[in-house]
Amino acid sequence: MQVIVVGAGVVGCAIAYELAARGAAVRVIDPRGSGQGATRASAGMLAPYIEGHSAALLQLGVAGLDQYERFIGRVSADARRSIEYRRTGTLQVARTDEEARALERHGRALADSGVTATMLDQGELSRSEPALTTEARAALLIPPHGYVRVAALMEALVGAGVNRGVQLVVARARRIAHLNGRAAVETAEATLDADAVVLAAGSWSGGIPVDTAPSPPVRPVRGQILQLRLPQPPLSRIVWGSGGYMVPWEDGSVLVGSTAEEVGFDESVTADGVRRLLERAERLVPALGGAVFEGARAGLRPASTDELPIIGPSKGMPGVFYATGHYRNGVLLAPLTASLVADLVLGGGERPELQLVRPDRFGL
Ligand code: GLY
Repeated sequence: MQVIVVGAGVVGCAIAYELAARGAAVRVIDPRGSGQGATRASAGMLAPYIEGHSAALLQLGVAGLDQYERFIGRVSADARRSIEYRRTGTLQVARTDEEARALERHGRALADSGVTATMLDQGELSRSEPALTTEARAALLIPPHGYVRVAALMEALVGAGVNRGVQLVVARARRIAHLNGRAAVETAEATLDADAVVLAAGSWSGGIPVDTAPSPPVRPVRGQILQLRLPQPPLSRIVWGSGGYMVPWEDGSVLVGSTAEEVGFDESVTADGVRRLLERAERLVPALGGAVFEGARAGLRPASTDELPIIGPSKGMPGVFYATGHYRNGVLLAPLTASLVADLVLGGGERPELQLVRPDRFGL
């Protein structure tokens, strides 16, 4: 079985790896190489009980998190590389009584659904996270959450894919069509055909026409993040608060996210974005005011109109599949998406999660 994946972000590369691991001959096409788009500015958080803003997204996110450990193990072994991946848990910080009450309600709802989540009072919080602002009055601890270092994951995914025979083609896909009864991708240089084509081009998916089908309703939402570094990690867990989050790596780096900006296809890092993120970081962890500034990145998250991914077969184009629209959860949902798509492409049946993300809800 020959497959072409259009888009070499975390979703496209995870799909390519999964298909190749199951025996397919896979090419991945992207004009900018791997790990661009939304992937390059992702903080790698795995936090469905915070970011699952709808019942459907929560169900997908929890299914995605369940697969993570095993996926990291497989990719790491196939790539022969380690990947920084830790289930540190998250702390959602309250500065006011009202915020604390809202977190208590969230914690009770999680407990009702069988997820252990614990409220920490001010004393417990300052003992466990002494670098946090003293204005933090309470926090909700959700232990199963964690993060993966995305650049390390991408290097490993590409390496594992290459070791399984995946080819990366640096070219811009212009159109997906049929050629002699096979699915095909037109680029400026050539038309490449295969048994199946998977459109996983994130925010750019809408600009790659799939023959006569409507374009997937995906728009870019820019996110900027900062990378700061202290000599020692100032936090032991991911912290959410003041409208954003901080992800502490083992080496003392801290990712500070993020913005959500409707600015079209503008991938710039802006002075205003950096200023707002620096203010947020210092407000939550005052010592970050003295941190080394390691950089800032911007990426375009692909948001569909209902903020759920679009995964599944094209209605009118046999052999063509969509895997796009992952918005704020591409890293979390990449392993799940890869297994859903590999099942479909290789005829392994349909998992129940597919009902939540079907392309035909948009007439695709
Ligand atoms: N998932 C984190 C973000 O979108 O900023």
